[in-house]
Amino acid sequence: MQPIAQQAMTPEIIEKIDNTGVIAVLVIDDVKHAVPTAKALLKGGVDAIELTLRTPVALDAAAAIKKEVPEMTLGFGTLLTVDQVKAIADVGADFAVAPGCNPKIIDEAHKQGLSFAPGIMTPSEIEIAVEHGCRVLKYFPAETSGGMPHLESMVAPYSYLGLTFIPLGGCNIKNAATYLESPLITAIGGSWIAKRPLIQGEQWDTITKNAQEISDLIKKVRTKK
Ligand code: 3PG
Repeated sequence: MQPIAQQAMTPEIIEKIDNTGVIAVLVIDDVKHAVPTAKALLKGGVDAIELTLRTPVALDAAAAIKKEVPEMTLGFGTLLTVDQVKAIADVGADFAVAPGCNPKIIDEAHKQGLSFAPGIMTPSEIEIAVEHGCRVLKYFPAETSGGMPHLESMVAPYSYLGLTFIPLGGCNIKNAATYLESPLITAIGGSWIAKRPLIQGEQWDTITKNAQEISDLIKKVRTKK
């Protein structure tokens, strides 16, 4: 296969996500929780989020974070429609991911200059993503698909393409190292750091503690690499 000129993620965002090593998946129900959640994560060393488009306040929450916590790398998740791609580009999204691999979404993200990682869990989905210019892919749902053993055997035929992955779905502090130790992984993601009930219950210290725990683990794993 010829190298594909288009790149669905900019080198700057790839570098940012790679440096961060972890993306906190957030479901925000009340816009007043957006800024304190982002600050609690930052305090624990997590500076990238995937704000899911699953609640009516998601875009307002993003705008508040963008304004009040500009150090946060602002990603969006659960991107299902072309209109959502346009809407998040308008609020200044840094990147986006989706559970599935939808060429229409990939192409619109590219058109909008938005860094985007589609979701894959099969070789056919990898091929669709690659054909549409993607090199960083969301591996979803990572744990129930077979974790690293499944990813490693699935990716073997494409290893010359230099693909990297963000595993999401079932990742947590206990299994994080098994992913982070692999050169295939650019960053791990998950909702365990700031679970919906923690946000609803304004448990900022617990969110900071969870963030600190994964930040420390990332440092430890990367020092060993
Ligand atoms: C999601 O979009 O919900 C994520 O992939 C997170 O999955 P998790 O809740 O298992 O961390």
